[in-house]
Amino acid sequence: MQKVLILGSKGMLGQELVRVYESDDNYDVIALDRNDIDVTDYEQLSQKVVDVMPDVIFNAVAYNAVDACEEDDDEYKKAKELNGIFPKHLAKLSKDLGATLVHYSTDYVFDGKRPVYKGGVKNPRCCGQGCEDCMYMGPEEKLPFFAYHENDECHPISRYGRSKLLGEENVEKYANDYYIIRLSKLFGLPAQSIAGKKSFFDIMLELGKKNDSVQAIDGETSKFTYAPDLAKKSKEIVEKNMDSGIYHIANEGAATWYDGVVELYKIAGLDTKIEPVPPETFSRPASRPKSSVLKITKINSLRHYTKALTEYLNIMNS
Ligand SMILES: NC(=O)c1ccc[n+]([C@@H]2O[C@H](COP(=O)([O-])OP(=O)(O)OC[C@H]3O[C@@H](n4cnc5c(N)ncnc54)[C@H](OP(=O)(O)O)[C@@H]3O)[C@@H](O)[C@H]2O)c1
Repeated sequence: MQKVLILGSKGMLGQELVRVYESDDNYDVIALDRNDIDVTDYEQLSQKVVDVMPDVIFNAVAYNAVDACEEDDDEYKKAKELNGIFPKHLAKLSKDLGATLVHYSTDYVFDGKRPVYKGGVKNPRCCGQGCEDCMYMGPEEKLPFFAYHENDECHPISRYGRSKLLGEENVEKYANDYYIIRLSKLFGLPAQSIAGKKSFFDIMLELGKKNDSVQAIDGETSKFTYAPDLAKKSKEIVEKNMDSGIYHIANEGAATWYDGVVELYKIAGLDTKIEPVPPETFSRPASRPKSSVLKITKINSLRHYTKALTEYLNIMNS
């Protein structure tokens, strides 16, 4: 029986990884969260991991306070530690024990401008002028936007993005058998952890029920990612023993936040008015990429996010 260690097991993603592995009798699941271990206590971390001797380690631990770490140096220190330095220790441990490491990252490692293939070499399939391989076309009335290939150069424009890129670099450098999985706009059941956050859709659903109208940013185009779909696909990648490297996983359908709310209210049957507003409407310390659609080239596409959202709302209402 394979041993799977899930760190950050009460987070939005972690809890779904636990669910997907616990429903499979082939696995022995060890689920740990902040109340079991502080992963930045590296002695304790090493002791725990060696005690467990896992075959696969999932790192679903995160520092996600994008704006807090942009304006507060102490918060940035925490972000760097959790998103950047801790993955280095975990990567070394996974290598020493011969375990597979699955690490999660973000579309915020990109700057949202035209993608550049790593090493200055263009994606050979891409014309560079806006073909299917270098960009997606938005809905007719909107501008086209770019999609990022797994191998495109990273240029984060926020401290959070830099802390996540440091984590990626450390995993690539120190782990042997690893998957770095980038996702964007995660949604799913609220995290069970102490500081557990609700996702954008939950917040907008609450606002939509209480108000006649809401504002939503019609920008920052990317893909939504449904946590249960991501968990299942992560398991599949490990089971298929795919090549180590960077993977993009997200549900189909590039969307702005506004597009997402339009679909949400349609599915939920709410007639709340939605006002599309530019990103500058809300004052947020951290910059976000204008467009960071993840191009998915290594795995089969996940279902469209509106299908996943419909399932999610059914689960919430049942
Ligand atoms: N959420 C998004 O929209 C989004 C977008 C792109 C990428 N991602 C990436 O997706 C991955 C999963 O994110 P998520 O949203 O599921 O995160 P999450 O809900 O915030 O979960 C993170 C978990 O890690 C735990 N944790 C934090 N500090 C810890 C420590 N020192 N020791 C042990 N556990 C600790 C948290 O516990 P506490 O709650 O008690 O702190 C929480 O249970 C992350 O790599 C994230 O960067 C997320």
